[in-house]
Amino acid sequence: MTGFMVVTGFQTILQADEGMWIPLLLDQNEAEMQRMGLQLDAEDIYSINHSSLKDAVVIFGGGCTGEVVSNQGLVLTNHHCGYDAIQYHSSVEHDYLTNGFWAGNFEEELPCPGLEVRFLKEIKDITGTILQGLDQSLPERTRKDSIQARSKRLSVPYEAEGYEVRVAPFYSGNQYYMFIYEVYQDIRLVGTPPSNIGKFGGDTDNWMWPRHTGDFSVFRIYADSANRPAPYDASNRPYVPKKYLTIDLRGYEEGDFTFVLGYPGSTQEYISSYAVRLIQDLIDPMRISARTERLEIIKAAMNRDPKTRIQYSAKAAGIANGWKKWQGEVKGLKRLNVVGSKQDYETVFQDWCKGISGKEFAEVLPALKEAYQKLEPYLSLQIIFQEHVLAPEAVSFAYSFKSLHDVAVGTDTTLSLETALESCREEAALFFKDYDPEVDRAIFERLAFMVNADGTRNQVIDFEGTTLKKQLDWFYGKSIFTSQERMEQFLDKFRPSSYKVLERDPMFKYANVVYGQYLNQTAPFIRIFNARIDSLQRLYMKGQMQLKESGDFASLEQIGIQNDIPLNNVGSEQFYPDANFTMRVAYGQVKGFKPADAVEYAPYTTLAGIMEKEDPDIYDYVVEAKLKDLYARKDYGPYANELGEMPVAFVGTNHTTGGNSGSPVLNGDGNLIGINFDRNWEGTMSDVRYDPDMCRNIMLDIRYCLFIIDKFAGAQRLIDEMDIIKPDWYE
Ligand code: ARG
Ligand code: ASP
Repeated sequence: MTGFMVVTGFQTILQADEGMWIPLLLDQNEAEMQRMGLQLDAEDIYSINHSSLKDAVVIFGGGCTGEVVSNQGLVLTNHHCGYDAIQYHSSVEHDYLTNGFWAGNFEEELPCPGLEVRFLKEIKDITGTILQGLDQSLPERTRKDSIQARSKRLSVPYEAEGYEVRVAPFYSGNQYYMFIYEVYQDIRLVGTPPSNIGKFGGDTDNWMWPRHTGDFSVFRIYADSANRPAPYDASNRPYVPKKYLTIDLRGYEEGDFTFVLGYPGSTQEYISSYAVRLIQDLIDPMRISARTERLEIIKAAMNRDPKTRIQYSAKAAGIANGWKKWQGEVKGLKRLNVVGSKQDYETVFQDWCKGISGKEFAEVLPALKEAYQKLEPYLSLQIIFQEHVLAPEAVSFAYSFKSLHDVAVGTDTTLSLETALESCREEAALFFKDYDPEVDRAIFERLAFMVNADGTRNQVIDFEGTTLKKQLDWFYGKSIFTSQERMEQFLDKFRPSSYKVLERDPMFKYANVVYGQYLNQTAPFIRIFNARIDSLQRLYMKGQMQLKESGDFASLEQIGIQNDIPLNNVGSEQFYPDANFTMRVAYGQVKGFKPADAVEYAPYTTLAGIMEKEDPDIYDYVVEAKLKDLYARKDYGPYANELGEMPVAFVGTNHTTGGNSGSPVLNGDGNLIGINFDRNWEGTMSDVRYDPDMCRNIMLDIRYCLFIIDKFAGAQRLIDEMDIIKPDWYE
C-alpha cells in the first residue's frame, strides 16, 4: 500500500503520490522527490534564471499539454489532443484519421489554422497586490471588479511586450498567481498514426486499464527569422527551443520514481460534504442517465450505417467520455464514503470553530449547507437544459440564428446583415456535414422525457400543448434547421424580410422559448447561488488551511485512520491547490493496482496484448497488417525491453486530471519515458478524493511511440532529430 499514514505522536507523514504542485514553490517538495528518486534539483524543473524542464512543456491548443523533443521545435502530444487538427486535414481522398499521416520533409508539414501552443515564461505570486484591502465582507461583485482591475494593471507591461498574461486564483481565491505566456501560432501537423493505433480500443477501452492505445501525434512549432512567434507564413522556420527533452529508452521498473509536468484542468478536493453529495447523488446520476439514452440511439445508428459512424464518431466519443468517467466517479466516491468522511471532518472543523482561532469560520459550514440547498433545484434545471433539452442538436443550431434574426429586424446593430448571414452559412455547412435528422429526431423523442428513479417518465418541456408526435413531425418535417435542402433554400433566397421565415419556423420558435426560459428563470439563480458559494468556499478553504496550520492533528488523524484513507494530504506540510489549468508537477511511482478482490493489475502492457484484443469485425479492435508483421518478426529495434517485449502503456501514482493529456512523463533524471493520456476508471473520483491504492494515471510508453514512428511509419527523419538514450543491451 502506498500513501500510507505513519502516525508518530501528533505528527502524520503522508507518503507522496497525491498532489499537484506549483512549479514556483517546488522547493517544498524537493527533498521528498529526491528521496523517492529524483536526481535533479527543483531549479532544474522550474527556473527563471536558466533554461529548465518547464521550457520544454507547452499548453497544446485549448485544453491539453505537449512537450518539445527536438532542437527544431518538434512537439509530442496525444492523438486525442491532435484529433481536431488531424480531422481538419482529412478528406475522403486523404483520410489521415483512418490511414495516418507522415510528412516526408518540412515542406509537407501541414499548417493548422487556429492551433496555438503556449510556453510558460514565468509565474509570479501576486497575492499581496491582488488582495490588499479586500476582506470577506466586501460584496462579491465589488471584489471581482477590483481583482480584475488590479490584474489588468499588472498585466499591461507584459502584454505590451507581446506576452499573454493570465491571473489565476488559488485555494478558492485566497491566493493569486500571474502566469506569463509566449504564444506560438504557426503549428504544423508532422505525423499521426492511423486511428486503429492512436485510438485503439476506442470508447470501449477509454478510462480502462489494461490499455493498448498508441495515443500520440506529432507537431512542429514554427517561428519567424528571429525565433519569435508569428502567424503562419511559408517562410517561417522551425522553432529553436530554450529546452527540449531527452528521450530515455531504458524503461522503468515497478516502484521507479516518475513525475508529470503539465496542465491539469480542474479538481475540487476541498469542497464540503454538501457539494460532494450533490455530485454523487444528483449531478452525475442525472447526466449519466440522460447520456445513456442518447448514446444508445447514436450507437445503434452508427452500427447500422458507416456514414453515420463517421459523422457521429467524434460526438459519440465526447458524450461517452464524460458519461463513463462520472460512473467511475460515483462508484469511487461511494466506495470511499467521501460524504461520510467529509462529515466527520466537518464535525472536527465545527468543534475547532468554538475556540478562539476558529471563531471567524463558525458560520461558514451552515451557510454553505443552505446555499447548496438553494442551488439544488436550479442545478437540476440546468442539467435538464444541458443534457435533455439541448441533446437534439437542431435546438442550439436554431438558436445560433438568433443574431441573424435580430440584425434583420434591427434590434442588433453590432453586425452587418452580410456578416451575420455569412456566419450562418458557415455554421450551417459545418452542422449538416455531421448531422442525421433521423438520429436527432430519435434523440428528441427519447430525451423529451426524464426517467425517474422508479422508472416512470416525466415530460421535460411542455411546448404549445400539442402531442410530442405532432411536434416532432413539425420540427423534423418542416423546420429549416433539420434539413440541409430547406436550409440551403432559405439561405439562397435570403432577403431582409426573411426574418419572418425564422419567426414562423417551428424549431426556431421552440429554441427561443427554451433558451428564454433557461436564461431568465434558471441561469440568474445559478449565478447568484454560485457567487455565494464561491465566497463561502473561499472562507472555508481559509479555515481548513488555518486548522491545518494550527497543528491540531489529533482529531484529524482519527478521521484519516477511521476511514482508512487520508483526507487530502492532511499529513503533509500544507494543502496543494486545486487544479486550475496552470502548470503543475505531480509525482509518484510506476505501480500496478488491485481493482477488485483477487484481481491484480500489472503496471505495463505490451504489443502481445494488442494481438490478443484484435478483432477484425469490431471497428475499435482492428489491427493493421503492418503492425502484425512487425510483431511476428519481433522487429522492435532498440524499443523493446530487456525481456524482448514491446511495451505499450504503463500506470503510475501521479495525480493527474483532464488537461494533463499529452503531458511528459519523466524519470528521476528528468528524461522522457512516457506521455500521459488517461486515468483508470476505478480512480476517476481523484478529482474530488485521491485514493493512493486505486488512483492511477495511464501513460503511453515512449518506446511504443518511437517504435511506431520509426518501424511502423518509417519516419526515420524524426527519430534522427531527437536525443535518445538507448538501452545498454542494444549495441
Ligand atoms: N479519457 C481520456 C480523457 O479524458 C481520453 C478521451 C479520448 N478518447 C476517447 N475514446 N473518447 O481525455
Ligand atoms: N484523458 C484526460 C485528458 O484528456 C486525462 C485525464 O482525465 O486523466 O486530459
